[in-house]
This record gives sequence, structure tokens and C-alpha cells, in this order.
Amino acid sequence: MARGRFVTFEGIDGCGKTTQLRILAGTLRRRGLNVVETVEPGGTDIGQQIRRILLDPANTAIHPRTELLLYFASRAQNVKQVITPALGTGSIVLCDRFTDSTLVYQGCGRGLDPETVLQLDAIASNGLRPDVTVLIDIDLETSLARARRRNQNSDGSESRIDDESAQFHEKVRLGYLALAAQEPERFVVIDGKAGVPEVAARIEEGLRNRV
Ligand code: TYD
Repeated sequence: MARGRFVTFEGIDGCGKTTQLRILAGTLRRRGLNVVETVEPGGTDIGQQIRRILLDPANTAIHPRTELLLYFASRAQNVKQVITPALGTGSIVLCDRFTDSTLVYQGCGRGLDPETVLQLDAIASNGLRPDVTVLIDIDLETSLARARRRNQNSDGSESRIDDESAQFHEKVRLGYLALAAQEPERFVVIDGKAGVPEVAARIEEGLRNRV
């Protein structure tokens, strides 16, 4: 069966990965490639329903294990319904967050055992691993400032995770950098502090010969 390329975008909140994913999708499509964009949590109708539970600021009672399983539930549906079929037809799949998010947010951030996260992930992802992961790295201050600005522009309230302490985000950021150091062949690490076109150009350069 034809196998496309599975590219994930990762980074702390406000790093700009969603904007960059869209730009890259446009660039690749203009070159005649088939591109499928998806997001976690979400990506499917069922995933969107799960996403609403996860990001609802009212759900303060949610237990870390419940949260973990909901991220995986969304992923299982996305892998089965969207990602695997698209890869099967040779498309490039660009996914806004995937397993690395769970490892750093639930593992490093919430302190859940990384081995448990990986075991559950193997079930949810059905063993699927990204071919390439673009990690957009920004410092904490930039992240928080951007996240606040973004929230003020939408409905004025902060999402449950954006509310988390600076310490949590710092653990997440360091977790990402540690993962990238462990798997340098998979990760393309991009400094996300520059302007949008500059970051886009660096991502394109970083993915040359890989996608
Ligand atoms: P979202 O608003 O999409 O944030 P962003 O635009 O920064 O991606 O919300 C997704 C949130 O879910 C984000 O704070 C990270 C978190 N998350 C996890 O904690 N674990 C996961 O496995 C995934 C996929 C996301």
C-alpha cells in the first residue's frame, strides 16, 4: 500500500504551530501534493466532542487519568478515521499535536508515568509514529503573552490549560526539548520567536528532503 508522510507539529501554547501548519499545507498543495490537515484533540466529529470536555474551563474536577484517557480517545478516532486512511492513499498528513503532546503535558506537566503514557499511546495510535516532528520552540514569557492576547481576542476567557501555572509550561517546554534531544533524526526544532514568514521559511528549509 502507498504510504504518505506523517508530519506532526508540536510546541507550547502560543508557539504559532497552528498558523505554521496552515502555511506549510498551502505551500505543499501549491506544489501539487495531497495534504490532509488534522488536529488533536479533535480532528473528527467525535474528537471535537471530546475536545470540548477537555478544554472547558468549568471542568476543574477532571482527574489527570481521565484527562489522559480522553486525549487518547480523541487520538484513537483520529488515527482510525482520518490519519491512517490518508497515509494509505499517499497523502502528507499534517497533525497539530500528537503523542509528544501527551508525553510532555500529561507526563512531564502532570507527572504521569511516561511508560504508562507510551503503553496507552500504542493502543490509541495503533503503533503509528510520526515520520517528522516540527517542534516550534519559544520561551515561556512569549508563550504566555501570546496566549493571553489570543484569549482576549476570542471570548475573553482563558481555556483550562492556558490557565496553568508558568511552572507547568516550563516543565512542558523542557520536556519537548528533551524529547527532541533523544530523537534528533525525527525532530526539526525551529526557533519560533521570529516573525511568521521567517519561521515558515525555516520550517520549509528544515523539512527539505524529509517530506
Ligand atoms: P489548543 O487550544 O489546541 O492549544 P494550542 O493551539 O496551543 O494547540 O488546546 C490544546 C491543549 O491540549 C493544549 O494546551 C495542549 C493540550 N494537550 C494535552 O495536554 N495533551 C495532549 O495529548 C494533547 C494532544 C493536547
